[in-house]
Amino acid sequence: MSILIRPGLLFDIDTIAQFQIKMALETENLNLDPSIVHMGVSAVLDDPTKGKYWVAEVDGHIVGCLLTISEWSDWRNGTVLWIHSVYVEPKFRRGGVFKALYLHLKENVLSSPELRGLRLYVDKTNLVAQKVYTELEMDREHYHLYEWMKS
Ligand SMILES: CC(C)(COP(=O)(O)OP(=O)(O)OC[C@H]1O[C@@H](n2cnc3c(N)ncnc32)[C@H](O)[C@@H]1OP(=O)(O)O)[C@@H](O)C(=O)NCCC(=O)NCCS
Repeated sequence: MSILIRPGLLFDIDTIAQFQIKMALETENLNLDPSIVHMGVSAVLDDPTKGKYWVAEVDGHIVGCLLTISEWSDWRNGTVLWIHSVYVEPKFRRGGVFKALYLHLKENVLSSPELRGLRLYVDKTNLVAQKVYTELEMDREHYHLYEWMKS
């Protein structure tokens, strides 16, 4: 399977939004509001300072995506990329789609003087994703994630 990795563009909004809705349902049993998600994805594609989508294509069709968001690290005087919104279409799973996206980002970090590394968080119950990240040699030894969300 030949996998092409490219930045997400404005005409990908519908596909990326659909993937996020499916991902929330599959991984957290959450029904997201499609109009909010559509606006949320559009906001990134309209304003590159918010983040950057990357998509994986097979035979001209998007089969996976992720979002990177920059976090300034004063300790490292550089940028750490957070990986969010990871989704691969079920019938393309186990085909190396996420691995291709991840290795593309890793290559960008290695070749950039400004980028320092990659981070992500994952739902505690999402054991498949945890296995994938471990297989790709990410480690989870350092931090616990805490959060507070306005309800
Ligand atoms: C997690 C997810 C993105 C993985 O995408 P993928 O394209 O299937 O992953 P890859 O094929 O690149 O897998 C890379 C490696 O991870 C491991 N892996 C992948 N899926 C696995 C599974 N179901 N069980 C065990 N190991 C798995 C394998 O070692 C694999 O390499 P191999 O197939 O050569 O052995 C995909 O399952 C998905 O979209 N899940 C639903 C959404 C989700 O959970 N998103 C993450 C939220 S944090």
